[in-house]
Amino acid sequence: MNIKLKIALVVIFVIHLSMAIARKTTDGVEHHRLLRLHTLLITSTAMLIASFYMWKRVTFAITTLFPFSSPVRSRRLRLLCFQDIALALLFLFLFLSHIAMFFFYVLLGPEPNVIAITSLSFIAAYAHILIFLVLVDIIFYFTKLIHNKVTPNSVHTYLVNNRSYHILLAVFLGFMFMFAGLYSTHTDPIVRKTTIPMKNFEGTVGGSNVSIALLSDIHIGPSVGRSRIRKIVDMTNALKPDIIAIAGDLADGLVRDFSGAAEPLCDLKARGGVYFATGNHEYMHGNVTEWFAFLEDCNITILHNQNKHITVNGQKLCVAGADDLFALRAHVPGHGMDLKKALSTCTTDTTNILLAHQPNAAKLVLTDHELSQKVNLILSGHTHGGQMYPFVPIVHIANAFVRGRYYDPKTDTYVYVSAGVNYFGPPIKMFGSCEIIFINMI
Ligand SMILES: *[C@@H]1O[C@H](CO)[C@@H](O)[C@H](O)[C@H]1NC(C)=O
Ligand SMILES: *[C@@H]1O[C@H](CO)[C@@H](O)[C@H](O)[C@H]1NC(C)=O
Ligand SMILES: *[C@@H]1O[C@H](CO)[C@@H](O)[C@H](O)[C@H]1NC(C)=O
Repeated sequence: MNIKLKIALVVIFVIHLSMAIARKTTDGVEHHRLLRLHTLLITSTAMLIASFYMWKRVTFAITTLFPFSSPVRSRRLRLLCFQDIALALLFLFLFLSHIAMFFFYVLLGPEPNVIAITSLSFIAAYAHILIFLVLVDIIFYFTKLIHNKVTPNSVHTYLVNNRSYHILLAVFLGFMFMFAGLYSTHTDPIVRKTTIPMKNFEGTVGGSNVSIALLSDIHIGPSVGRSRIRKIVDMTNALKPDIIAIAGDLADGLVRDFSGAAEPLCDLKARGGVYFATGNHEYMHGNVTEWFAFLEDCNITILHNQNKHITVNGQKLCVAGADDLFALRAHVPGHGMDLKKALSTCTTDTTNILLAHQPNAAKLVLTDHELSQKVNLILSGHTHGGQMYPFVPIVHIANAFVRGRYYDPKTDTYVYVSAGVNYFGPPIKMFGSCEIIFINMI
C-alpha cells in the first residue's frame, strides 16, 4: 500500500478513535456538541471521495480544453499559467468546502465571519456541482453505450465529444445556484399573509380578528448575525401582530457566542405576548437552559410543554407549546415532547394554538382523538421548504406537511408550516423561501 495512504488511514483512525472516547466520557451539552463534531468528521471523510471525483473530472476538462500541445513557447507558458491558477482555485474551493461545518465552533461572533460565510456558501455550490457532475457522467456513459451499438447520430456524437464542456457547465451551474441562493438570503424575508377562520371566535361587539406573526427557524449562528435579526425584528414589529410565535430552531450555538446576535429579539413587541417553543437544533448545538434564561430576560414566554391563557381583542385564547419531537431522543434532563401536558389546561371553549416545531409532531396531534379536539391551529417550521432545490424531494418524504396552510377536515384543525425566516448552515435558500408568516385569525 502507498505510504501516504497508510498515513492518511492512521490519522483518520486516530481522530475517530479519540472522538469516540471523548463522546463516551462527556454528557449533557458537551456530549451533543462532540457528537455533532464527530458526525462532521465522518462527513468530511466521506467528502474526500467526492472531492477526488470532482478533482478528477474538472482537471480532465481543463487539460482537455487547454492542452499543452501548442508548439509556440510563449503561448505554452501562458496556458500553463492559466491552468495553474484554475487548479489552485479548484483546490481552494474544495478545501474551504471541507471545513465549512467547523465554523459552528470557531470564528463565532455577533456578525458572521467572512471566511465562514464563504466556506459555508461553497459547501452549497459543492453539493450542486456534485449532483450536476454525476448527471453529466450518467448522460455521457449512457450515450457512449448506445453510441457504440447504434449508428452514430449527431446528438450522440455531440454528447460524447463535448464531455469537457459539459463538466465545466456543471461547475458553472453549481456556482449560479449558489449565487441565486445568496441573493435569497441577503434580501429581506418575504411577508406571507394568510387568513384562517376560527370556529370559537365571537363575532360580537368588541370581538374581532387576532393576528399572529410566525417566526420559525431563525437559526442564529455562523451565517445569521445581529443585523439580519435586527431586520427581522423591525419587519415583524411593523406588522403590529397581536401575538408573536417563535416556533423553534432559534440558535445553533451557545449563548456566550451568540447573545450579541440574539439581542434584537428583546425588542419584539406584541400585545398578546411573544412565545417560544424549542426545535431540534436547541438540543443539538447549545445549552437550552441558558437560552431559556436569555429569552426570559427579554420577556419572551417560554412554552416548555406549557400553555398560557390570554384575552386579545375580546377573544379568549390558549397559547400552548411543546418541546421538540427530537427532545425525547436528545436526553436533556427535563426535556421531551409532552403534548398532553402542553395542552392540559386548554379547553374546548377557548381558541387553542399550539407551537410544535416539526410537522410530524403536528401529525401526531391530528391522529390523536383527544388531543386534536383541543387544538384549532398548529404552528410549525423545521422543513425550510427544502432550503435548496435538490433537497425538496427529501423533505417531502420525511415530513407529514412541508410548507404552507393545511386543513384537516376530520378534526377541524389548521396546520401552518413556515419555510422559516432563515436557513441552517449555508446562507443559500430557494427563491422566496425566507418568510415571515402573518396569520389573520378571523
Ligand atoms: C447549561 O447551563 C446551565 C446554566 O449555565 C448549567 O447549570 C447546566 O449545567 C448546563 N447544562 C449542561 C447539560 O451542560
Ligand atoms: C379582520 O380581517 C378581515 C379579513 O382579512 C378584514 O377585512 C377586517 O378588516 C379585519 N378586521 C379587523 C378589526 O382587523
Ligand atoms: C420586561 O418586562 C418588565 C415588566 O414589564 C420590564 O420592566 C422590563 O423592562 C422588560 N424587559 C425587557 C428586556 O423588555
